[in-house]
Amino acid sequence: MNRLQGKVVIVTGGASGIGEATARLFAAHGARMVVIADVQETGREVAASVGTGNCTYVHCDVTEEPQVESLVRSTVDLWGRLDVMFSNVGVVSGCDQTVLDLDLGQFDRVMAINVRGMAACIKHAARAMAEGGVRGSIVCTSSVTGRSGGVRNTDYHVSKHALGGLVRSASVQLGAHGIRVNSVSPYAVATPGLCRMLGTEAEEAERAYEQYVCLKGGEPMKARHVAEAVLFLASDEAAFVTGHDLVVDGGFLHQPFRSSQRWPSPGSGQ
Ligand SMILES: NC(=O)c1ccc[n+]([C@@H]2O[C@H](COP(=O)([O-])OP(=O)(O)OC[C@H]3O[C@@H](n4cnc5c(N)ncnc54)[C@H](O)[C@@H]3O)[C@@H](O)[C@H]2O)c1
Repeated sequence: MNRLQGKVVIVTGGASGIGEATARLFAAHGARMVVIADVQETGREVAASVGTGNCTYVHCDVTEEPQVESLVRSTVDLWGRLDVMFSNVGVVSGCDQTVLDLDLGQFDRVMAINVRGMAACIKHAARAMAEGGVRGSIVCTSSVTGRSGGVRNTDYHVSKHALGGLVRSASVQLGAHGIRVNSVSPYAVATPGLCRMLGTEAEEAERAYEQYVCLKGGEPMKARHVAEAVLFLASDEAAFVTGHDLVVDGGFLHQPFRSSQRWPSPGSGQ
């Protein structure tokens, strides 16, 4: 239970969903400090509820580079170093668009959060790690949608493909500093964000999604399953792993007849 013993970590989007589950797991694994960075002030309650005294909340909008820079600087000032950046913030526009109907304003908003925000987090985390001589780990949240095309949510698919290029380039460029850069690609977790987008309850979303995975008979996919993969990449156990995308999908991507073109949409009978 001490796989992050003594490490100082930042979790962006840690107030909810996958980020929250990961922040809790990091704290349980002995991190010296887990900094939850989010735009939702409920992150403060999440940090307080961790209960081990090693979690705090900082308001930070990842689309504002000065806020990301200040988040990293204040973390290093207060806790002496930065070992792990879990750059997790991402949004789904929820637009059912094909390229024929693409709302380019919405497209820009998704790119600003899912790609530009990730780039800002990688940039400032890597600078702090390099300056501090820390052989750190940066983990980004991608998605199985970064590995296939789709008939809708075009902006989201594009953003996760772009993230692959960002992660792989950063891993090549930062290797000389001993900094590892990887990503996780979850399938579907009924997080508050996903349920809000679908307009459904978590149980209904889980039922709709679980039919598309190979692994049967266990519990539906949870944020905790993703958090465990992030923990591995963040920890020293992954000391020689960089530029890798760790898929957490219950076998979804390898099914011969899977169709990424028909994402189940609870409530719509699909
Ligand atoms: N839930 C899924 O099924 C799923 C599947 C694949 C990938 N993902 C990815 O996982 C990541 C987390 O998603 P989730 O489902 O846990 O979502 P969520 O909505 O439950 O949590 C996302 C958090 O990010 C925060 N956030 C949003 N914009 C922000 C900004 N500009 N600056 C700082 N914080 C901001 C939100 O306040 C929220 O707390 C995203 O990158 C998403 O693309 C999710």
